[in-house]
Amino acid sequence: MKSQWNGIAAVAMALMFAGPVDAAVDAAAFKALAKKKGCFNCHGMDRPILGPSLRDIGRKYGSDAGAQARLAGIIKNGSKGGVWGKDAMPAYARLGDEDIKTLVQFILSLK
Ligand code: HEC
Repeated sequence: MKSQWNGIAAVAMALMFAGPVDAAVDAAAFKALAKKKGCFNCHGMDRPILGPSLRDIGRKYGSDAGAQARLAGIIKNGSKGGVWGKDAMPAYARLGDEDIKTLVQFILSLK
């Protein structure tokens, strides 16, 4: 019976981590990664630079069910421009899925 309880506990943990975006957001990890990858060169927290401000992105997609996948795809593959302005978002093809998740979850938590 003990192993069954462990299984239930594991499922409960998984559900906790799959819960609302805010619960899994790691702001410190986001900032370190975004700084290292140069995101802040084009995206201010509250100020557009070459790209939109991160808060504007969060506000635009925050409540959109497909946002996680969409933004992950843009970071990995880049964009052609035209969503926010004429400039394009460069592709970060070598960024791992975990890092992309850290970036996207934080951006989507901004309101
Ligand atoms: C060279 C400048 C530049 C850098 C560096 C950059 N971006 Fe962007 N980003 C842009 C531009 C410009 C857009 C708007 C593209 C458009 O309108 O299609 C954009 C758009 C986005 C969007 C919104 C996409 C959408 O469809 O609305 C996200 C999310 C994003 N960037 C995240 C990041 C992250 C995370 C990093 C760092 C890993 C980063 N960007 C680095 C220029 C940049």
